[in-house]
Parts: sequence; C-alpha cells; structure tokens
Amino acid sequence: MTPTLTALLCLASDFLPGTLPKPTLWAEPDSMIALGSPVTIWCQGTLGAKEYRLDKEGSSEPWDTQKPLEPGDKAKFNIPFVTEQNAGRYRCSYHSPAGWSERSDPLELVVTAPYGELTLTALPSPAVISGGKVTLQCGSWLEFDKFILTKEGEQKFNWTQDSQQHSYRGSQALFPVGPVTPSHRWMFRCYGYQRNNPWVLAGPSDLLELLVSGSSRKPSLLSPQGPVLALGQNLILQCRSDVGYDRFALSQEGGRGLPQRPGRQPQAGLTQAEFPLGPVSHSHGGQYRCYGGHNLSSKWSAPSDPLDILIAGQIPDTPSLSAQPGPMVASGEDVTLLCQSSRRIDTFLLTKEGATDPPLRLRSKYKARRYQAEFSMSPVTSAHGGTYRCYGSRSHSPYLLSLSSDPLDLSQGAGQGGWNETWVDLRGNVMRLRVEDRGPTPPPPDVSFSESEPPSVPAPHPQVLTQWVMEAVTLIPENLPYSSQSYAQYRGEGSAPQRTREQGGH
Ligand SMILES: *[C@@H]1O[C@H](CO)[C@@H](O)[C@H](O)[C@H]1NC(C)=O
Ligand SMILES: *[C@@H]1O[C@H](CO)[C@@H](O)[C@H](O)[C@H]1NC(C)=O
Ligand SMILES: *[C@@H]1O[C@H](CO)[C@@H](O)[C@H](O)[C@H]1NC(C)=O
Repeated sequence: MTPTLTALLCLASDFLPGTLPKPTLWAEPDSMIALGSPVTIWCQGTLGAKEYRLDKEGSSEPWDTQKPLEPGDKAKFNIPFVTEQNAGRYRCSYHSPAGWSERSDPLELVVTAPYGELTLTALPSPAVISGGKVTLQCGSWLEFDKFILTKEGEQKFNWTQDSQQHSYRGSQALFPVGPVTPSHRWMFRCYGYQRNNPWVLAGPSDLLELLVSGSSRKPSLLSPQGPVLALGQNLILQCRSDVGYDRFALSQEGGRGLPQRPGRQPQAGLTQAEFPLGPVSHSHGGQYRCYGGHNLSSKWSAPSDPLDILIAGQIPDTPSLSAQPGPMVASGEDVTLLCQSSRRIDTFLLTKEGATDPPLRLRSKYKARRYQAEFSMSPVTSAHGGTYRCYGSRSHSPYLLSLSSDPLDLSQGAGQGGWNETWVDLRGNVMRLRVEDRGPTPPPPDVSFSESEPPSVPAPHPQVLTQWVMEAVTLIPENLPYSSQSYAQYRGEGSAPQRTREQGGH
C-alpha cells in the first residue's frame, strides 16, 4: 500500500461509518413473541448519540427513529401489539456528531400465531427408557413447508425439518430424538411455517414432556375391574409399589397424555396412586404401563409390566364357549375349552373371572365353516376351577373385542348337562361314580358305580346314597382326602338310585 493511500484512509476513517462502535440490538421480553403481545426493541450505541434509527429488511425507509433515553447511549422502540407485519429482520444504527454508526447485527423478530392447531406426539410413547430414542411427530391440518422442534428448559435447542405431506390433508414432520438420559427434563414444543415467511411461526403446540424411565424397581399396574371392560364402565387403574415412590405416572402406548398422580399410602410400606380414566370409550383399549418417581427428581423407575385393557362389545358377535369332554373334570384329566364363532375372528381370548393374569390368546383356525380356537388344559388342577368367558378380536384393532360368550363354569357342571364323571368320597373312601345330569334344575341323580373300576371297599347301601348330600364336584385330587368346602353342593336328596348296584364284596 502506498503511503498516500494509507494517509487518505486514516483521514477518511474519522468521518466514515464504521469508526463508531457498532450498536447492539435486542428485544424484550424476547425476540420470539406471540401475536398481539407487546415487545420492546432496544438499540444501544454510545453516549453522545443524537438519534437512533431502526431499519427493517426489505424497506429503504427507516422503520422508526427515536431520540435516545437519558443518559443517551440507547433508545427503545415500542410495539404495544405485535402483528404479523412486525415480524422480520431488523438492524439499527445511531447518529452522533461524528456521523452515522455502522449498522448492528440483525435481530430476527419472530411472531408466533395460533394457526393450524399444531400437535406434538411422541411415538410410540412419551415414556422412554433411559438411553432410548423416540420420534417426535409435529403435525397440523394446514400445509406448512417446514416445522421447528424446540427443546425447552435448561438446555434450549431447536431443529428444523422439511415437512412431509400427509396422505390427504395437512402436513407433518418427524424428529428423531435421543438417546435420552434422566439427567435433566426433556420438554418440547413445535411450530410450523411457510418457506417465504420464516418469521411468522404457527404454533406453538402444547408442551410435551418425555418421561425418562430409569432402573429403579418397577411398580405394578393393575385394573381392579379386570382386563376386559364394557363401554361406559368406569375405568380406574392402580399403580403401586413398596419402594416408597411419591408420585406415579401412567402411559398408554400411542397415547399423548402422561397423567401423574401423587402416591398415597394405603398401608405401611406401600404407596399407590389411582388413575381414574372415566367412563370407558373405545380409545381406552390399549397397552398401559406405569412408573414411580420421587417428587423433586426427574428420574423415574423402570416401567411396570404392560397391562392390556380390552373393550368388549366392539365387534357385533357372540362366540360360543364349550368344554370337551365336559365342564366337569377330575383332577389330572384333560379338558379343552373350545371357543367358536361363525363370523371372522383373528384371535380368541379366554378370561377367567377374578384372575389377575392377562387373558389367554390363541389365533383362530377356520374349521368346519367356523372360526375356532382350542384352549387345552392338561392336566387339570384345582387351580383351573372357575368361571370362563371367551371373546374374539380382529388383528387391526387387537384391543377391541366381541361380546362375551356365555360364562362357562368349570367347577359346577350341574345344570349345564355337560359333565359325566367325577370322584366323590363316601365314608372317607374314594370311589368312582358315574353321575348323569339331566337338566338345569338339580335332578335326582342316577348313580351307578363304574364298570371299569370296581371300588375297593364295600359300596354303600342305596339308602345311604339317598340321604347323602351328594356333592357333585370336580377337580378333586385323585386319592386325596378332601374337605366338603371344596365342593359345589349338589343335593341328591329324594333320588331313587335304582340303577345303583353293589359290586365287590356283596
Ligand atoms: C433456534 O435456535 C436459534 C439459535 O439458538 C435461536 O436464535 C432461535 O430463536 C431458535 N428458534 C426458535 C424457534 O426457538
Ligand atoms: C409430593 O408432591 C405431591 C403433590 O405436589 C404432594 O401432595 C406430596 O405430599 C409430596 N410428597 C412428598 C413426600 O413430599
Ligand atoms: C355321559 O356318558 C355317557 C356314556 O359315555 C354318554 O352317553 C352321555 O351322553 C354322557 N352324559 C353327559 C351329560 O355328557
């Protein structure tokens, strides 16, 4: 550089923009502001500035000019109600006796507007295992070009994603998030916008907080009403633990909510929360898990075992349930419960009244022009006794069931006409009797000794039998003494056991 030119530049720099310190530009309370809210834009220069000027990109005219506030190093530009026209990129400069300052770095004033009902959903669930990943779906019925996902709270961050067009209407974007850790809270919102106007954001969506489940002991989740509910029935789920959690959270797979309830202590050493989910609608059908946590911690326990809530009566079909060879069975024998339907059923479910286990499920087979499934129990033990029902479901909505079959009682065949052989005890001896059941009202039983197995003790006299309170029972452990409480009572009084014959010693 020649000396002359250097001298010239030094001289010029006293009078040209750029010699004064560059002003700073910011917005209060924030540069992202909801439509209709007030915002103040501040420009700070140096003492002695006479005038401040705010320029909005796209216009050669100054957007506004202001005299500085005392002591004179900054000016404010008030916008009492932000409109979409206020959104954009701003710069400011100030005038002092030395001339105009250089322009500030840009301020992007972003206006958020509640258009398009943005929904933010975690797939498959807002409950994520520590170290796991989740996909956040931001969607709207409006067609946006782009979506922004913002992470709120301590570690603010945001991602922008092009939208994918929905199959028919609206738009959405998927944001893979993770691995998530329980070190801090994971809270998100999302927005949508058009490419030609990136300063007007539609949104925000509701806040979505992920629940990061950890490794502390899982609570247990139960449905006191059983796993199968009818429409309109009141659904309450209980989450409980002996770990002493202060609060519990409930997740439904594919569901958006993650309700939390404080833990109560119904008895020492146990805390529990109830989640009243209201009258059952078909959307309550699904898989649930619950989590335990402590009040001032973002850490949650491991997930409970999943609980399926099934809604009956959602397929207009009533399957039939029968037992083969019959509902009265001796312990150690085999019985098969056959559930059948003439309509298309993909899976049959077998429930037992009062059982806490999930229902048994079997894929249906098409046989003899009927859909059917065979639930076999072999060998039968006393634990199998109870009242069974079966239901059908279809694979596209596995939590919605048919109507219930008629109940089938495996321990009380009397009146169903469906049982034949059992073991009963007379005078403390085990003998095999054949009992024929003739109908729904307890009929006089015909009693005869089995041909195949002559009793090893003298058979009772017929008179003994007529007075005997015959306890028609199943599930009697062979050769084991048993108490009369274990039987369903079946009075055979007044019967005429003509066909009884004595065998053996007489
Ligand atoms: C995204 O992050 C940038 C940089 O931190 C920030 O300036 C901008 O305001 C954020 N956008 C939103 C929508 O939060
Ligand atoms: C935890 O928080 C809930 C709700 O804020 C409160 O009812 C409960 O007493 C708290 N439990 C403990 C142990 O602080
Ligand atoms: C009992 O068994 C006999 C002979 O096996 C059979 O004919 C009869 O139908 C059975 N009764 C019932 C109620 O199942």
